[in-house]
Amino acid sequence: MRKNFLPFSRPSITEGDIQAVGDVLRSGWITTGAEAAKFEEEFAAYVGARGAVALASATGGLHVTLKALGIGPGDEVVTPSMTWVSTVNLIVLAGARPVFADIDRDTLMAGPDQLAAVLTPQTRLIVPVHFAGASADLDPIRRLAAERRIAIVEDAAHAAGTEYRGRRIGSAGTAIFSFHPIKNITTGEGGMICSENAELLDSVRQLKFHGLGVDAFDRRMQGRAPQAEVIEPGYKYNLTDMAAALGRRQLARLDEFNARRTELARYYRQRLAEADEILPLKDPAYAQRSCWHLFIVRLDIDRAGLSRDEFMAELKNRNIGAGLHFRAVHLQKYYREKLGLTRGMLPQTEWNSDRICSLPLFPDMHPEDVDDVVAAIKDVLKKK
Ligand SMILES: Cc1ncc(COP(=O)(O)O)c(C=O)c1O
Repeated sequence: MRKNFLPFSRPSITEGDIQAVGDVLRSGWITTGAEAAKFEEEFAAYVGARGAVALASATGGLHVTLKALGIGPGDEVVTPSMTWVSTVNLIVLAGARPVFADIDRDTLMAGPDQLAAVLTPQTRLIVPVHFAGASADLDPIRRLAAERRIAIVEDAAHAAGTEYRGRRIGSAGTAIFSFHPIKNITTGEGGMICSENAELLDSVRQLKFHGLGVDAFDRRMQGRAPQAEVIEPGYKYNLTDMAAALGRRQLARLDEFNARRTELARYYRQRLAEADEILPLKDPAYAQRSCWHLFIVRLDIDRAGLSRDEFMAELKNRNIGAGLHFRAVHLQKYYREKLGLTRGMLPQTEWNSDRICSLPLFPDMHPEDVDDVVAAIKDVLKKK
């Protein structure tokens, strides 16, 4: 058995990263400033976006985006239930109604057909989720939304470096990225909105800092403009320079990180072919390139003779960490009780929600770690 615990994720932080954050701490300006501005420029250039706004989290980013789009009571927002809870929470907090689309069984993403099936005249927005590093099928989703004049905001929390039909996610439309520590690059906590809609970015920039007419850091003033006034009440979701300095360093290594993740994912697929009870996700049928944010498998619970939760606990007993991305949102307490959502509404989401589990995947892992995970899986399954 493995001697030390293998976590399912760990950020790759170098001494150079620590030095860069230290430099900001020593500089005299530690909140939003020149580092955040450079991070926005560099991230926009990396994905090929017209502009970008850095934020304290992707969740905060979605909050201000919903506000900027004027989503509220009477509106419906369509998104998968196989997603992180933050999107759905914010739709509810905005006073709108979340409407869930089912997903493809093997990619965990809602495609145009699943989305079209739940659109109504009240639908104002679709939030497709690029899942586990793979891209959603954007072209037909964009056509569907354009026909009905529905906005799209892509949840790109898992998609830093992902490509769809040869272009990076974030290069077109509006996409929100996350830099939470398990993500492909991290700023501790943080996020970025990329958009081709300059007006939307201006609103987001204003709303993320008290609704003042200036950013936390005014580029012309090289500080905060003292005469700034509230244009509309806003929030406090700016990214600090301490975080942005880390983000810039991480961004410079993103391609290297993703190449490493891709190699490890390939090796997992090869090794896991030996375990019939383990069903990895499949690549989407359209042209895309995954950044391999997560390596998700489904446990064939009937064949294996144990539940997914028992399986994860057994892996942990063998010093292997695992994650769960995600439990279906519509089956969580609030959504069951307040919105009356029940099992049976979203068959593919529910099937996966009971069986998925994310195996360790991070850039500093080695193929021998994958061997340890596969050995532990085989041991768990053999004992059952
Ligand atoms: C699919 C998805 N959307 C949104 C988020 C929210 O990101 P953040 O933690 O930066 O608010 C996450 C984070 O885990 C996520 O996985």
